[in-house]
Amino acid sequence: MQLYDEYQPYPSRKIEGLNKIAEEIRNFKGLDIAKNATHAVPGEGNPDAQIMFIGEAPGQVEDQTGRPFVGQSGQLMRKVLFETTGIKPEEVFITNIVKFRPPDNRDPVPEEIEACRDWLDRQIIVIEPKIICTLGRFSMAKFIPDVTISRIHGQSRFIDFLSHRYIVFPMYHPAAALRGTGTFNEFKADFAKLHQLLTTPSPIKEPASPAPVVQTSLF
Ligand code: URA
Repeated sequence: MQLYDEYQPYPSRKIEGLNKIAEEIRNFKGLDIAKNATHAVPGEGNPDAQIMFIGEAPGQVEDQTGRPFVGQSGQLMRKVLFETTGIKPEEVFITNIVKFRPPDNRDPVPEEIEACRDWLDRQIIVIEPKIICTLGRFSMAKFIPDVTISRIHGQSRFIDFLSHRYIVFPMYHPAAALRGTGTFNEFKADFAKLHQLLTTPSPIKEPASPAPVVQTSLF
């Protein structure tokens, strides 16, 4: 599936916007995980992406390379994306809730999520994706609080976020898919649903009343 014309230049305001955010992230030293990082991991991909994947936080390989989702679980995610939908990883934008590696891959703490929130919000505003795929419970909770991932993964919904309506599609984190065959099969099935979401003109109904506004202002 080809989503983009390779010869179509990306809008320069998007490239500039994302570069500025990435530079701020790389220069930030306000958290211990930022001071201790080998590399910050701002995110990468198509500035004009229709799909944005948001994970949790960089792991060891991401910290070493400065690139998101390039370790074992990331390679699985990129492979299943391409094999199931035909979409190349460079056609989407891939980032995380937290932009620096927590030690020993522990869960990010609220202070770290909050310190990185503004960068992620601005990345979403600049890219304006059609679909936001959350990978794992931390990024899901940003848009859909108080739910469990096993109950709602693979179910798309409209979410109004920062004055814009997005389709949010919660998915398991690929690390969970690596741990068990059952979750792996569900993870793969969700990518097939994502493909449907992209190719069906009106895959989900607009809400009758405005969807809950998760957050109303950025600045
Ligand atoms: N897990 C994540 O959540 N993000 C990465 O970038 C890599 C692994």
